[in-house]
Amino acid sequence: MSTHPATASIEAQRGLKIPRHIGVIMDGNGRWAKQRGLGRSEGHKAGVEAVRRIVALAIEYGVDCLTLFSFSAENWRRPPDEVRFIFGLLRRFVTSDLERLHDQNVRIRIIGGREGLERGLRGIIHDVESRTAANTGLDLVIAFNYGAKTEIVNATRAIARKVASGELDPDSIDEATIARHLDTSGLPDPDLILRTSGEMRLSNFLLWQSAYAELVFVEENWPDFDEAVFVRALKSYTARDRRFGGVRT
Ligand code: FPP
Repeated sequence: MSTHPATASIEAQRGLKIPRHIGVIMDGNGRWAKQRGLGRSEGHKAGVEAVRRIVALAIEYGVDCLTLFSFSAENWRRPPDEVRFIFGLLRRFVTSDLERLHDQNVRIRIIGGREGLERGLRGIIHDVESRTAANTGLDLVIAFNYGAKTEIVNATRAIARKVASGELDPDSIDEATIARHLDTSGLPDPDLILRTSGEMRLSNFLLWQSAYAELVFVEENWPDFDEAVFVRALKSYTARDRRFGGVRT
């Protein structure tokens, strides 16, 4: 478990509950750019700056785990130039920010399908994950080429193979078995899912893991994400009554 010395004071100052795990659907880069008469690429570039801001805030506020939805399995339907551009941004982000994140004790995990990614990018992902694997601070999870239904299909196949080989008794399969076979194995379930740009959907993001997550939707487009938006989302989360199916005691 990570230790975050700054957490207690910030919580006390602001009376905020800090979620252990925040999942973010970073939406609205294109609209942000359009409103400014810019190309969509400019929106994605500004989106990377917002990624840097939320990572810094997560560390400052003592969040244990931050999962960012960077590219969905459905995003391949976008024009090839835009797909290439987003891939380039991810590649540049994980290489240019790696040393700083490593110095900040951040452990990076990239979830989602590796097939369809070019070999160079797969190599970079492998290096970034192994370089930071022993870090004990923020778990930064980047969901790239990720889709929750495919993740569940892959987990089901892995479990079925173990049953077929006799390694696993079907009657022993429980929720923990499924969770262990998901890409997020070992991480806590998200307490808060935040989506920007006013859209109110999960869009195939962490479907299994979000069973009891609080959902917070904000109007700002992703490139406009800042500390004020972050604190507003935390206030909304703090005000929620989380019962996990039980009753208030
Ligand atoms: C949603 O906006 C954004 C994306 C699909 C891409 C998000 C990518 C980044 C922020 C950059 C790369 C990521 C990292 C971690 C460095 P949209 O294009 O769907 O916006 P729109 O709905 O307004 O068109």
